[in-house]
Amino acid sequence: MKVRRWMTAGAVAVATVAALNTVPAAAGKPYDPTSQTLGALGLRHGLQVGTAISMDALNDADDPQYRKIAATEFSSVTAENVMKWESLEPTRGNYNWGPADQLVDFAKRNRQRVRGHVLVWHNQLPEWLTGGVADGSISKPELRELLRRHITTVAKRYQGRIWQWDVVNEAVSDPWDTPPTLHYKGFWAEHLGPGYLADAFRWARAADPKALLYYNDYNIEAFGSGNPADDKTQFVYDMLRRLRAQGVPVDGVGSQGHLGTQYGNYNTFQVTEALRRFTSLGLVTAFTEVDVRSQLTEGVRAGDSEEINPRLQASAANFSVLMKACLAVRSCLSYTVWGFSDNHSWVPGWFDDPPEGLATIYDENYQPKLAYHEIKSDLILAGPPYVLPRLAPKPRR
Ligand code: XIL
Repeated sequence: MKVRRWMTAGAVAVATVAALNTVPAAAGKPYDPTSQTLGALGLRHGLQVGTAISMDALNDADDPQYRKIAATEFSSVTAENVMKWESLEPTRGNYNWGPADQLVDFAKRNRQRVRGHVLVWHNQLPEWLTGGVADGSISKPELRELLRRHITTVAKRYQGRIWQWDVVNEAVSDPWDTPPTLHYKGFWAEHLGPGYLADAFRWARAADPKALLYYNDYNIEAFGSGNPADDKTQFVYDMLRRLRAQGVPVDGVGSQGHLGTQYGNYNTFQVTEALRRFTSLGLVTAFTEVDVRSQLTEGVRAGDSEEINPRLQASAANFSVLMKACLAVRSCLSYTVWGFSDNHSWVPGWFDDPPEGLATIYDENYQPKLAYHEIKSDLILAGPPYVLPRLAPKPRR
């Protein structure tokens, strides 16, 4: 029985692959995959290739190239900032939906899916909220109710228009934090305790029955020691296994993919293995914020190609490792870059001691970098039997 079922599933998969891989040849012209967009090439595998969008850049009349690439190259978009709480509710009770609505409309016009980012995070919270908790004017029960209302209001407003929601972001500490033993960190854990995670997913599900609900975090691309006291991937894995065992409606895990060329690099198999293990919990996966930064040494800043080239190559290799691992695992539904061009990347503003940059797939003049070409070639060269169409998950109740 079981075997037969698998055989049928296999036959369907192969037929689907055959259909997806039909090469669209225009009359007389040979098909040239390099002229296709990343988004179109991803769709051959059912994979969405997305980007974070800066609304300031999108609305800058003097920067038409940003808008053009944002609209054409990608099949999914994420709000880089405008769906964060401080942006949506800058003063208590007054929601400022404009920029987030604009992003969702932009995506619709361009037939892009939307990753919602983010419902619960300890950063970019409005001052009235953190200040109110600090001065005691917002009690703990009130805080929990405010969180429930926020999740409900935002998820309901965009119901039907969000494909994946990052419900909870970055709940877990890093080995360099104090204490170094990994733990639940940040504003929400401190004030509500770790039970807020299960609550958040349940509230999000009640508000939006159809979106895929994700837990999202960085430094979970590969397993380390296997000890949850110092291996963040293991900690997150154990956490998600417990949430699943409690029947919490979490559908997926997002691995942000913020990498740096100065660190040791993962190989494709390590990353594939991590995605597989998350998948074995019954979860779908995604790379949600990929960028690969480098230190801007004096030589780099002076334009010395012998300093720049190895960094561009290492960056491209890291982008490619994550793409190949994603392609290899059918649960990996999307690959999103955190900004596509160096002139609008968050990296230089955020990592400035020492200065870092060169983190994206296009340079400051919107010229595609080696990283762009390498992930494009990964998408072109992939296919069955190792790369199969994506899974089609049903959101959990
Ligand atoms: C960053 C934005 O890119 C910046 O513009 C902003 O100033 C700070 O936040 N992990 C996340 C993202 O989940 O929301 C962060 O985005 C980058 C790290």
